[in-house]
Amino acid sequence: MSSGEFDGKVVIVTGAASGLGRATALAFAGAGAKLVVADIDQDALLATAASTTALGSETIAITTNVIDIASCAALIAGARAHFGRIDALCNIAGAFRFDHASNITPEVWDKIFAVNVRGPFFLIQSALPHLIESSGAIVNVASASAFLGHAYLTHYAASKAALVNLTKSLAMEFMHAPVRINAIAPGGINTAMTATPSIPDGIDFQLIGRYTPMRGSSEPEDLTDLVMLLAGPRGKAFHGACLNADRGITAG
Ligand SMILES: NC(=O)c1ccc[n+]([C@@H]2O[C@H](COP(=O)([O-])OP(=O)(O)OC[C@H]3O[C@@H](n4cnc5c(N)ncnc54)[C@H](O)[C@@H]3O)[C@@H](O)[C@H]2O)c1
Repeated sequence: MSSGEFDGKVVIVTGAASGLGRATALAFAGAGAKLVVADIDQDALLATAASTTALGSETIAITTNVIDIASCAALIAGARAHFGRIDALCNIAGAFRFDHASNITPEVWDKIFAVNVRGPFFLIQSALPHLIESSGAIVNVASASAFLGHAYLTHYAASKAALVNLTKSLAMEFMHAPVRINAIAPGGINTAMTATPSIPDGIDFQLIGRYTPMRGSSEPEDLTDLVMLLAGPRGKAFHGACLNADRGITAG
């Protein structure tokens, strides 16, 4: 990664308080980007902003709940008002939990979809005029679960499959506009999301052993180059793509 690739560019990263979002923000800072970091966890978000600032990136932190459409609109408006342009939107915030299908309540289903699908969509809707103006890019973070039936993750896997098709559908609709819209689909990443998952009683572990990565899990830093590739000019060949980065989980 050549430092300076994102000099003068303004990048929004959601989920920036933790895990892949935080690592991505740090990587963009190292490559010269100005940053708008967003997350619902204000204290951890401010820690990320302090770290990117220490790397020399002009950074603003905007506490955001992606479930709240007004909060999504305020994030995009705040980014544009502060920096005058937006070059990339990285939708990394996500919600995950195991549940028996029979125990998924409407509230849990709606929350998973609101964080993983609705939030990214309305962030994109607000940001698109600015991204078209800058010939910018969108990177959505899906999951290997989008491509596999995943026991006890019906809501999560379905939401990530929806995010992949959201990516492709928008890529079609904006085929003639100067904006690129892509996604990545990681497998297991060593982050807070999967460090201590709450496993419900009565799970048949034979059904989920299939998803244990045979080649191990990724560190967040293993995936940041991929996000940056899709977000910047080196990724100009990609539009409507979802790049699997799952250490072989979906190989067969
Ligand atoms: N960890 C994995 O194994 C794995 C695998 C595949 C895909 N992913 C995806 O990668 C992305 C990043 O996850 P991670 O592993 O870094 O997890 P993480 O838990 O470390 O980070 C997720 C971040 O999203 C934020 N967030 C949650 N709800 C939010 C809301 N309503 N508004 C704003 N921010 C909110 C959290 O506060 C947290 O900072 C997610 O989209 C996740 O689904 C993770």
